[in-house]
Amino acid sequence: MTSFDHHRRPLVIGIGGTTRAASSTERALGFALRGAQAAGANTRLFGGTFLHSLPHYAPEQAHRTDEQLELIEAVRHADALIIATPGYHGGVSGLVKNALDTLEELRADERPYLDGRAVGCIVTAYGWQAAGSVLTSLRSIVHALRGWPTPFGAGINTLETRFDTVDTCSDVKVVDQLATVGQQAAQFALAFNAHRTPDAAPLAGTALKEAQPARLLHAV
Ligand SMILES: Cc1cc2nc3c(=O)[nH]c(=O)nc-3n(C[C@H](O)[C@H](O)[C@H](O)COP(=O)(O)O)c2cc1C
Repeated sequence: MTSFDHHRRPLVIGIGGTTRAASSTERALGFALRGAQAAGANTRLFGGTFLHSLPHYAPEQAHRTDEQLELIEAVRHADALIIATPGYHGGVSGLVKNALDTLEELRADERPYLDGRAVGCIVTAYGWQAAGSVLTSLRSIVHALRGWPTPFGAGINTLETRFDTVDTCSDVKVVDQLATVGQQAAQFALAFNAHRTPDAAPLAGTALKEAQPARLLHAV
């Protein structure tokens, strides 16, 4: 995508969840996506079941599965993202990290990786320590992918906050926090794209490619 149609709603892609059917991480992500919708975005969710269908990303292999291609294409056309992971042993879960590693396929795009896109970050964990430290890790990953972490990220302690159904949460403050993450991602997309004129976007992309040798793609 080289230009932005100022009349369409921005597309916010949600990536996250776990293999559990009642994943609190995926439910938290759903709240954030609804916040993005309320702020004027269209949304699409890649939840735990989908992420589980992705093979382990292998950069040396030429073949990509339909599911890998679906994710890559969706992110390529996204205006913003929201990523939600559980804290697993002090880090981002392998399931979510594998999806993010798959985005290596976007390295040669005009907008490489998550370039120019806001990324809301959400972490669930059984305690505040992992909620905080994994949120920091996730934001670092987003930086490495050239994304713009939203100012507000949500760390949720699932020992204290329950998501009993897909649209219920025991803590109204957490609901507000998740809506803020989605709202900020959508608002950034609207504001950022308002500055990308159809003529200016390809020029900016060309200038960037000329200024930066390919090796800098992995500078962070
Ligand atoms: C393999 C595994 C490792 C975990 N490691 C941590 C951890 O290091 N710190 C923590 O606070 N919670 C940890 N948890 C708890 C999860 O982060 C927490 O239950 C999370 O909310 C699960 O999300 P879900 O409901 O979407 O499956 C771990 C859970 C699992 C299954």
